[in-house]
Amino acid sequence: MDMDMDMAAPDPRRPIGVFDSGVGGLTVVRALRARLPGEDVVYLGDTARVPYGSKSPRTVERYALACQAFLLARGVKLVLIACNTASANALPALRAASPVPVIGAVEPGAASARAATRNGHVAVIGTLGTVRSGAYEQALAAPEVYVTALACPLFVPLAEEGWTGDEVARVVARRYLAELFVRDPAIDTIVLGCTHYPLLREVIARTAAELAGRELAIVDSATAMAEAAAAALGGGAHPNLRAAPGRLACHATDISRLDELAPRFLGEPVSSFELVDL
Ligand code: DGL
Repeated sequence: MDMDMDMAAPDPRRPIGVFDSGVGGLTVVRALRARLPGEDVVYLGDTARVPYGSKSPRTVERYALACQAFLLARGVKLVLIACNTASANALPALRAASPVPVIGAVEPGAASARAATRNGHVAVIGTLGTVRSGAYEQALAAPEVYVTALACPLFVPLAEEGWTGDEVARVVARRYLAELFVRDPAIDTIVLGCTHYPLLREVIARTAAELAGRELAIVDSATAMAEAAAAALGGGAHPNLRAAPGRLACHATDISRLDELAPRFLGEPVSSFELVDL
């Protein structure tokens, strides 16, 4: 009897699982906790194997499946792939392996871009693995939307180093974004297709506006994923409606530099990371 009830209505107190190749996914946790403050969150950063962005699709899929298995073993009611590279290369395999809903970064980011663009000219910036996958082109239903995708690998170490608003960030942003406007001068929307990039949002927006001579819409997949999680909970995975703030349990496969890096991405101190082996 109890079991039947459990199957009909999964326990809303179960946590939401979030994983990333490293600490960048904490930008998604930040957006998620702002949108759904009552939810408990279990976070896993695969910091021993980061970066995923330069690895082959098969390797990324294998690593991502191990991350998701870790979260499922902790009884999560929903999985968020807070890594664009893993979303772009492993979403079908992750969905096939999960009994609970799985939300990737690409679909919500693409939906926001489609809503934001006025002329259908969208740029996607991300890791090499994300750009090579063609996942955003597919999700944006190109050729209806004209997509220009560019790998910007130097943005990841800049975000981690905290060099997000200085001369170095401006030079790097100018070099990458100039390339985008050479390829398509009509771009009116840029998707931050990497979980590290929200930290560079300002410099990207300012540099793009300088190069284009007009303001552009900057779309952030972290916010879009938090919205998608809220919609999924309303549609079946069951929200936790308690008033008190939810707990955040952080895990990582390597803990080097986490004390310094994690608060930069989460926007608040992280009490501790538990070291785990996948
Ligand atoms: N988390 C990755 C992403 O969002 C960036 C870092 C990496 O290459 O692993 O694509």
